[in-house]
Amino acid sequence: MSEFVTVAPLSDVPEGSARVVEVDGVSLAVCHVAGEGVFAIENRCSHDDGPLGEGELVADRIECPRHGALFDVRSGAPKTLPAVLPVQAYEVRVEDGEIQVALNSAGGGGE
Ligand code: FES
Repeated sequence: MSEFVTVAPLSDVPEGSARVVEVDGVSLAVCHVAGEGVFAIENRCSHDDGPLGEGELVADRIECPRHGALFDVRSGAPKTLPAVLPVQAYEVRVEDGEIQVALNSAGGGGE
């Protein structure tokens, strides 16, 4: 089951913007896609660790500020070189004006 934790007020991440948040030692790029909603991916580019959340969000894609790879913020899938591997995407919900992320929604094993 997913456990959601509050990461930021929705008002801190206006539509069309991205913001870096740290929660439980995980750095996330929280992205508010205009007309679509809020998505969260790991704040570390799969190419060379660029801080994705500091890049420019255009529609549902964010551009890595280091070498310019584009990622789909819904899925974490790379859309352009030089990145070829996906980044982790997390489940997000908005409750009472707060953005909440399920950190344990990342794939993988666990107990
Ligand atoms: S570190 Fe992101 S494109 Fe190179």
